[in-house]
Amino acid sequence: MKTKRISDKIEKALNEQMTREAYQSQVYLSYASWAEVNSFPGIATFLYGHMQEEREHMFKFLKYINDRGGETKIEAIKAPPENPKNVEDCLQKILKHEIENSKQIDKIVNLSHEEKDWATFNFAQWFVKEQIEEETLINEIIDKYTLASNEKDNNSNLYDLDRDLASASQHATIPQEEKL
Ligand code: FEO
Repeated sequence: MKTKRISDKIEKALNEQMTREAYQSQVYLSYASWAEVNSFPGIATFLYGHMQEEREHMFKFLKYINDRGGETKIEAIKAPPENPKNVEDCLQKILKHEIENSKQIDKIVNLSHEEKDWATFNFAQWFVKEQIEEETLINEIIDKYTLASNEKDNNSNLYDLDRDLASASQHATIPQEEKL
């Protein structure tokens, strides 16, 4: 049994975020399946990849809570929302989920700052960066989608976009990562 090095309040916030990451994974799973049955295999592959990433995020929270002597509570995960109406709706909804998730991460950052819990503050920074990457990536895909659907022959453009997404990176490159 490890010495408990996080407050009850932080432990609760981390547990809630762990469950939220599991929920995010379920959202990607459900949207990926929707894309697959609606003949967008590339988008489905991309979303299945993200499903796995969110699962890893959930596990990072679990490990951190346990490593800091806290106790993880595995709770029920609420059902994902209804299927998207179309690809654009799918992308917009994903962006909304990610922005909401970023706000929740910010709350953990604030809380750890208030408590001067620098270990948790440092842990949460990884997620701050991750959320910037995820929002950037999805915004880039939305831009590509807008371009593809505005041009002539948009069926062919959407086909190309779907094919490209199958091999797209799960990460956007953000300026902080570039070496000077
Ligand atoms: Fe782990 Fe995309 O939030």
